[in-house]
Parts: sequence; structure tokens; C-alpha cells
Amino acid sequence: MKFMTSFLFTALFSLMIFNTASAQSLKSNMKSTQTLLKQIASTASSPSSNSDNAQNAAKMVTFFTAARAQSPDSGNFKDYQALMDQSIDLMKNLEAAFKNNDNTQALELLQKLNVAKKEGHDKYK
Ligand code: HEM
Repeated sequence: MKFMTSFLFTALFSLMIFNTASAQSLKSNMKSTQTLLKQIASTASSPSSNSDNAQNAAKMVTFFTAARAQSPDSGNFKDYQALMDQSIDLMKNLEAAFKNNDNTQALELLQKLNVAKKEGHDKYK
């Protein structure tokens, strides 16, 4: 029963975030991701923040999954989606790294995300 309640709560909460992300513009989804990324980056080497950071990484995945379906003003949409998929994979790996308490790997993944971000902004922003 406790499991069911917690499962339903998590499902409902995820749905609420996903609905918010779907209703937002690409620009807003990017901004929401940026806020989460800054929060993560400032605490990424602190193991006591790993649980919060795993949750924030999962939220970034939700915003980026919505942003993936939103066409940017410039560039090729298929190529844009491929780079967004790559970024979403990095975010999922980041969530896993925090869950595994692997802060070294988390820092590496954050660097890779920043490289993807630069490439994405150079090509599509
Ligand atoms: C974690 C990585 C990323 C973060 C934190 C991020 C964050 C942001 C921010 C803060 C903006 C500016 C919003 C504004 O104008 O106020 C933006 C815009 C944009 N980003 Fe990203 N970005 C990331 C990765 C990417 C990637 C990988 C792509 C492409 C594949 C991308 C494509 C774009 C585009 C097209 C815009 C312009 C949106 C618009 O104004 O309509 N971004 N991003």
C-alpha cells in the first residue's frame, strides 16, 4: 500500500512536470534546463547532494524530451534531434552516476553536456 501510494504520487508528479514542459516554448524548456544544470553544477562534487542531483538530472531529461520535439528557428531538424538525443543520453547517464555515488563520472558527464550545449547553440540558436 505504501509502495502504491508512493508510486502513484511519483507518477502524478512526473506527469505534472511533463505537462508543464510540453506546454512551454523551446526557449522556456531551455531556461528550465539551465536552472537545473546550474543547481547541479554547483553541488556536483558533494556526495550529500547526490540524491537531489539525481532528481534534478531526471527533471532535465523531461524538459529536454519536450524540447526535442520543438523545432528551432535555424538548422536541420533531424540533426537537431540527434544532438538532443545525445544530450538526453548524457542526462540519463548523469542521473545514474549520482545514483551510483560516482561523482567523478558525474563531473565528466557535466563537461560533455557543456560541449553538447556549445555545439547546439553554435548550430541551432
Ligand atoms: C544542458 C545543455 C543546455 C542548456 C543548459 C541550454 C540552455 C539554453 C538557454 C539558457 C537558452 C537561452 C534561452 C533564452 O533565450 O533566454 C537556450 C537556447 C537555445 N538552445 Fe539550448 N541549452 C543546452 C543545450 C542545447 C542543445 C544540445 C541544443 C541543440 C541540439 C540547444 C538548442 C537551443 C536553441 C535552438 C535555443 C534557442 C531557443 C529559442 O530562443 O527559441 N541547446 N539554451
